[in-house]
Amino acid sequence: MTELRVVDVVEEQLDAVWEVRIRSFGPGGDRDEWQKNALTFMDGRFLGVVDGDALVAAARIWPFEQWWGGRRVPMGGVAGVVVAPEYRGRGVGSLMMRAVLKRCVDKGYPLTALYPATTVLYRHLGYEFAGNRYKFSFEAADLRTLGGKGTAVRKAGRADAALFLELAAKNHEVRRSSGPLIWPRTEVESWLEDEDNFAYVADDGFVVYNWSEGALAVDELIAGSEETARALWATVGSGSSIAKSVQAYCPPFDPIHLLAEHEADGDTRINRWMLRLTDAPAAIATRGFPDGVVLETDLRIDDPDLTANTGDWHLSVANGSGSLKPTDNPADGLRLGPRGLAALYAGTPVAALRGAGLITGGAPATDSALDAVFAGPTPYMLDYF
Ligand SMILES: CC(C)(COP(=O)(O)OP(=O)(O)OC[C@H]1O[C@@H](n2cnc3c(N)ncnc32)[C@H](O)[C@@H]1OP(=O)(O)O)[C@@H](O)C(=O)NCCC(=O)NCCS
Repeated sequence: MTELRVVDVVEEQLDAVWEVRIRSFGPGGDRDEWQKNALTFMDGRFLGVVDGDALVAAARIWPFEQWWGGRRVPMGGVAGVVVAPEYRGRGVGSLMMRAVLKRCVDKGYPLTALYPATTVLYRHLGYEFAGNRYKFSFEAADLRTLGGKGTAVRKAGRADAALFLELAAKNHEVRRSSGPLIWPRTEVESWLEDEDNFAYVADDGFVVYNWSEGALAVDELIAGSEETARALWATVGSGSSIAKSVQAYCPPFDPIHLLAEHEADGDTRINRWMLRLTDAPAAIATRGFPDGVVLETDLRIDDPDLTANTGDWHLSVANGSGSLKPTDNPADGLRLGPRGLAALYAGTPVAALRGAGLITGGAPATDSALDAVFAGPTPYMLDYF
């Protein structure tokens, strides 16, 4: 083994990346589709590790935005993290992920998130659980009779991508969502032109669904009003003569749980995702906070991998916005590392973080105020990446 180096992956290395992927995730997948997609990451969002000339590890960064408190925060979505089997267990994954964190900072993503196949690697680097991806199963017949017949619903296609993004944005702003992704428009266009996806749009909402193993599967349903929710869910439920169930990715507090006559089936599937703040002041400045909640407090952050986050900070929250500024005169504030910071940002109660040793110090009187500041609808994602 010569000296291992982190590099930007170039097109000529994609065969090697594919080979490591097969050895990591198993065979399958469309090689050409993967390659086409991989090429879109070559603007500094595809990192690898080489031993001499040989590529032995790779990871990609999706250029997402993520809703936090009803505002958009740029987020680097880390995917396809693979290390060649013969190089595992000797720090290669960690070396690459440290470079990924720094690249997220350079690219202007104050947040990064991922679905972990193993938590150990990512926890060592400051990621912590922040939210879930839920899948509920409804009776198709229940959805069919939801009504909404007075609402005009039309078939949608590729040309509606910008409209879909706009309708989703309005909805997440109003609901003060935390967690859902904003995909690049080109990705939305490619879903909408995929003949296996069925998309419909109303004045203030849309649905995208498809067939999945004999059932209908809703990837996303956005509705700005009760009538539109009824109309769009009923459109999907109209397939009930063939599909007995409708699997839907949606949060546990989606209005459909209050509209459908029977509760969703208990086979709710949950994938947990992890979050990390790469630029703490920017992450605080860009997210939304609850209106009417006011807080002034000091924090001590220790972040060994991204030292710009390390230091004494003053957190101010008022009028739905927050700021994190360095302070030379810290009061006895909370002490936390990147894992505690990520979990706090995602609304994990401070008492739970103290219970796990992720937060220490400070005054318990401030705990409930911090809980109130970071509270909001439970963070969730609809998509896997
Ligand atoms: C997961 C993977 C990327 C880790 O790469 P690696 O080079 O072995 O990681 P490192 O040597 O830097 O290990 C970092 C830490 O993670 C731990 N770790 C690595 N793989 C692990 C596993 N499968 N289970 C539990 N812990 C693991 C290591 O023990 C180490 O912790 P330690 O310092 O406390 O001992 C690699 O095993 C791999 O490619 N696996 C198959 C594909 C995969 O699962 N990718 C992740 C997708 S999210």
